[in-house]
Amino acid sequence: MNLKGRSFLTLKDFRPEEIEYLIDLSAELKVKKKSGEFGNNLKGKNIALIFEKPSTRTRCAFTVACVDEGGHPEYLGKNDIQLGHKESIEDSARVLSRMFDGIEFRGFSHDTVEKLSKYSNVPVWNGLTDKYHPTQILADFLTIKEHIGKLKGVKLVYVGDGRNNVANSLMIGSSKLGLDFTILAPKSLWPEESLIKECDKYNEKSNGSIKTTDSPKDLDGADVIYTDVWCSMGEEEFAAERINILKPYQVNSGLLMQTKNEKTILLHCLPAVKGNEVTEEVFEKHADAIFDQAENRLHTIKAVMVATIGNN
Ligand code: CP
Ligand code: NVA
Repeated sequence: MNLKGRSFLTLKDFRPEEIEYLIDLSAELKVKKKSGEFGNNLKGKNIALIFEKPSTRTRCAFTVACVDEGGHPEYLGKNDIQLGHKESIEDSARVLSRMFDGIEFRGFSHDTVEKLSKYSNVPVWNGLTDKYHPTQILADFLTIKEHIGKLKGVKLVYVGDGRNNVANSLMIGSSKLGLDFTILAPKSLWPEESLIKECDKYNEKSNGSIKTTDSPKDLDGADVIYTDVWCSMGEEEFAAERINILKPYQVNSGLLMQTKNEKTILLHCLPAVKGNEVTEEVFEKHADAIFDQAENRLHTIKAVMVATIGNN
């Protein structure tokens, strides 16, 4: 599989076998790292890490993954460069891509990462925008494979803010790879109809499915429950309103019991607001899977860089 030179802006741009390839490569790189072996796949490569929003996992995963494979990461925080302030995105993209071999962008508008990619002649990786968080989903799927042994036919229920970046990307990834995906959320927080339609098309090929519901009864048989914060970065003004409408959707022991499946695992992309979207008790009970998922950000982000700009 050759993904050299490709940007990674959303999973929509990748065929199912390409996504599977990235997950398999992540698993290989994970084994390699655990055995204490480091590679030279990024030797001689410089990568720019642009962050308009804060990050723990994504920033650290890009940094450690790059160094593990012999490359050099450069962190560019929101006050460090001119991007979008004193210099247009188009110009910053052309400058950075003359110096760097790959550019990661985390920020607000998805248009920014698209513009960066359009005006760069090196791969651009989306480290989260208001709309999508595609590298997160690679880690989520690697974790599901590790804990459940497969992806196809897995019943994955996302509970909470069903139209945020993580929910959107999970729905795209699920429909590409044939999972049975449910959004359990109040109607006002269901995903955009146009995105559901796009994903329905992917499901025709993968045999996956999408269900939107506001009834916890639809948790029946869930293999995986997934939740995320009720109020994403940049949406702080909606915090009180969200708490109000999402309270009945808190992942607590009562809600978990509705799966009628003792083996249901809980995933959370983190950071978590315990007491809101998940109770401390339920979070701690499922901490092993959740922190495997966090660790897997490293291996999957490494796979994306190795596949798109790696030396081999
Ligand atoms: N899950 C995730 O993207 O975490 P950070 O915001 O810490 O990068
Ligand atoms: N939906 C969350 C994800 C954080 C990783 C946010 O955008 O803040």
